[in-house]
Amino acid sequence: MDAVGEMRKPTSGEIRPRVLVFPDAAAVAREAATRFVRLSRQFISSQGAFHAALAGGNTPREMYRLLAGSEFRGQVCWEQVHLFWGDERPVPPDHPDSNYGMAWKELISRIPIPPAKVHRMEAENADLGRAAEKYQETIRNFVACDSRGFPRFHLILLGLGPDGHTASLFPDSQVSQSTLRWVDAPFVEHLRARRITLTLPVLNAAHHLLFLVTGAEKAGMLRSVLEGTGRHPLPAQWVRPKDGELVFLTDAAAGRLVASPPAGEWSDGR
Ligand code: 6PG
Repeated sequence: MDAVGEMRKPTSGEIRPRVLVFPDAAAVAREAATRFVRLSRQFISSQGAFHAALAGGNTPREMYRLLAGSEFRGQVCWEQVHLFWGDERPVPPDHPDSNYGMAWKELISRIPIPPAKVHRMEAENADLGRAAEKYQETIRNFVACDSRGFPRFHLILLGLGPDGHTASLFPDSQVSQSTLRWVDAPFVEHLRARRITLTLPVLNAAHHLLFLVTGAEKAGMLRSVLEGTGRHPLPAQWVRPKDGELVFLTDAAAGRLVASPPAGEWSDGR
């Protein structure tokens, strides 16, 4: 299904975030699955593998279901795909809150991907700092780095929280734009817990960053993130790839406040 609109927000020399607005969440999931297939073919063809980091939360669930379904499953050469995660909650993999657990249920348990190519964050570890270090070494074994020394994932899927967080980079946690770490275990004040997350420099090293944002409750935050408004900077606003593509896929409900920019900034995304 084609987008019903597209906003190219002019930014000063930065990579332009592209915002594609679709009629509903199902269309967003379909577009995301289609892009996953296309990018997997591109990178498997050019580099022999496809390194993708999955998002957690609920929004990507439908995309994962589609990818595992009969329409899309056969379009991906799963033997050449490596799945990683952008972040994880401090729970075991079979816990209902586990990002890995959701992806296992909706996708991984239904596709022929070699288990050795599914790289989950071991967030059940009582020492999350150690788990973060271990995950960094896992990434190092597979993902090539850029000139700045950060791993360049081919695709990183991201969601947007109501407070402007993405992955597990929260406004009330220590988020560094200049850390040398690839994976961190920040304490998140309002959760009173640590998370494991890819760091901002790793997100910004990606070839392709794809935000999936749906639902009316996200509309205000999406506008703040795209337009840089709001009193305090938001972690999702810091996601600006150095040399990659940044795309927001939204439904009409989430995009309703960015769906009528000044004339000329929109073109029909068809
Ligand atoms: C997590 C996610 C998080 C998520 C947003 C949006 O672990 O919770 O990584 O960053 O993407 O909170 O979540 P929803 O898709 O459920 O709205």
